[in-house]
Amino acid sequence: MQEQGQQAREEGLVAAVVESFHATPDARLRSLMEALSRHLHAFVRETRLSEEEWRAGIDFLTAAGHITDARRQEFVLLSDVLGVSMQTIQVNNEAYADATEATVLGPFFVAGAPEVELGGDIAGGAAGEPCWVQGSVRDTEGEPLPGAVLEVWECDEDGLYDVQHEGERTAARGRLRADERGEFRFWALTPVPYPIPHDGPVGRLLEATARSPMRAPHLHFLVSAPGRRTLITHIFVDGAELRCGGDAVFGVRESLVREFERRPPGTPTPDGRELGERSWTSVRFDIVLAPAGA
Ligand SMILES: [Fe+2]
Repeated sequence: MQEQGQQAREEGLVAAVVESFHATPDARLRSLMEALSRHLHAFVRETRLSEEEWRAGIDFLTAAGHITDARRQEFVLLSDVLGVSMQTIQVNNEAYADATEATVLGPFFVAGAPEVELGGDIAGGAAGEPCWVQGSVRDTEGEPLPGAVLEVWECDEDGLYDVQHEGERTAARGRLRADERGEFRFWALTPVPYPIPHDGPVGRLLEATARSPMRAPHLHFLVSAPGRRTLITHIFVDGAELRCGGDAVFGVRESLVREFERRPPGTPTPDGRELGERSWTSVRFDIVLAPAGA
């Protein structure tokens, strides 16, 4: 009897909270708040959340707020390591024909990257092993998309993006335009694994749960063309780091894994660039864009 009374009180509170949103003028906001209330209460009831645990949760979110500024976004990191960013992408980019799969944008995209000519080098002074990247941009009918815009960005050999270095330097990012046959080519750096920023509350969460902060090595792409769904994706380097280390943000899709072929020093480059005693790699990425609204 006592137990039934407890259950009724808990359910009554959930119903009252859901009901409190009934007059929300925006129907979408109303349904979001109702569902959020139901799921949050289900979590508290299922786990029998203690008051100390509730306080620890509040303290965690407070710390995430305090460390967040224009260059550091702890809430996006939290969303990423919980797989919520990736799930939101999956929900919003349903598979369409053979369109290239999307993955997380990540916190290091910067609008207005420098224009790079086809065949140019996006490194911009960033250190790392040279990597020749080429491919094409097509629609799902197989027709080339001339003039498609590609934004590409990546970390340097130390695992850091330009914005993580002191100063205003722009490096290892660029904006290119596919040629009249929808093809592109450029020099970049062979991607290396790097940790997501883990000196804050999200890092402490990963440590407490015996999880790695490492991301599988990757090169970021943002590809757009008129009438096409904009594609935010990466290509991942096939190899030991991907297979053993996993990816802290659940971004890896099998269809996005590419072999970066290693070329020993002295191997002639596709464009005749002299690399002296340096090794280099090459990779091909053929991109297919879904129709807008697909
Ligand atoms: Fe990245």
